[in-house]
Amino acid sequence: MEPRRVLLVVSGGIAAYKIPELVRRLKRTGHAVRCVVTASAREFVSPLTLQTVSAEPVRESLFDRAEEGQIDHIALADWAEAVVVAPATANLLAKLAAGIADDLATTVLLATRAPLLVAPAMNVNMWSHPATRANVATLHERGVEIVGPEAGELACGWEGEGRMAEPEAIAGALELRLGRPSLAGERVVVSAGGTREPVDAVRVLANRSSGKMGFAIAAEAARRGAETILVAAPSALPTPPGVRRIDIETALEMRDAVHAEARSAGVVVMAAAVADFRPASAHARKLKKEDLPEGEGLTLELVRNPDILAELCREPGERVVVGFAAESHDVVEAARRKLARKGCDLIVANDVSREDAGFESDANAVVLVSPGGEAEALPLLPKSEVARRLLDRIEKLRGARS
Ligand SMILES: Cc1cc2nc3c(=O)[nH]c(=O)nc-3n(C[C@H](O)[C@H](O)[C@H](O)COP(=O)(O)O)c2cc1C
Repeated sequence: MEPRRVLLVVSGGIAAYKIPELVRRLKRTGHAVRCVVTASAREFVSPLTLQTVSAEPVRESLFDRAEEGQIDHIALADWAEAVVVAPATANLLAKLAAGIADDLATTVLLATRAPLLVAPAMNVNMWSHPATRANVATLHERGVEIVGPEAGELACGWEGEGRMAEPEAIAGALELRLGRPSLAGERVVVSAGGTREPVDAVRVLANRSSGKMGFAIAAEAARRGAETILVAAPSALPTPPGVRRIDIETALEMRDAVHAEARSAGVVVMAAAVADFRPASAHARKLKKEDLPEGEGLTLELVRNPDILAELCREPGERVVVGFAAESHDVVEAARRKLARKGCDLIVANDVSREDAGFESDANAVVLVSPGGEAEALPLLPKSEVARRLLDRIEKLRGARS
């Protein structure tokens, strides 16, 4: 890709020691890199090191007349064709979300119109704090790309999510953002969430799917330039930027919407938990307990719902169809059987018995099972990262087909 002007904002986290490596990577690709460091960042990485590896002056202060005389902060914000914040501290994420500009780094971040990538890094409890969660959600909604963090052993001694994405992953995310969108011209349909099957006027049969995985896949497909349609079962999650959302409630409604949208799609990802059964008839009125003597049973007759994934796979065409399998035991074997039965191009199997992954969680540990039976187990990753890896795989399948 063509060389770009990249502004790298370094804030005060321990992961700042990895930033010279990130600068070197970006320089090797041909980009011009200028660094801005916060006052805290100077405690973790030497501005002289950053200056040496970037071969550009490092800016530290808003009110240093000599620095401001050379390139003023607005000129710096305008110079950037892309801005990367790495590591992004909890403090910097909070300031960015609130629009605070009380030092050079945050002032430049508010002034720039360039696309922004942030690579958070912090202690697991800081990352999972409701304040940080809300700040990250705000930034995400504004179109800021959040790269990582990853789960693992943290410098503070804790174990969990909070480790900065590796320089290689940050550089890769930047290339993706700046390059030609890899799914431009492609139509991708994603289903998400758990359907609800009415029992009577107020009650439904539901399941524990939160929709987070499907929403993350739709967000990633849109970021890659695909025309993305998200068929969503009831969910309070915000619609990702650039995604067209169709809200449905029941399995039958999902079937109609998915078939209608999938007709001209190159990729369909069925991440929704579609109810296998629905009540044979939904009572128009609320069933009253007074109508039954205490201790008496109420029989609910269920009928099978259509198998949307199998229907899609039976349709001829070059389309790539991906299914999800939520299993509680023998995960890979069950996924292999499901794949063979339905004939799809890939099954994403997740073990819903794990407490740290799957339903409702922000992380997932999945196995990608291919028609040949090969199984690639991914480690426990944020759902956004699972979505990235899944779309990398889908792009390969799509490329081999067209
Ligand atoms: C040894 C040490 C390590 C730290 N590591 C982190 C970190 O990884 N992430 C983080 O958000 N804050 C970390 N902090 C706290 C930040 O440095 C502190 O919140 C600071 O105000 C951040 O300022 P800045 O966002 O302007 O760079 C650390 C502090 C110390 C003393």
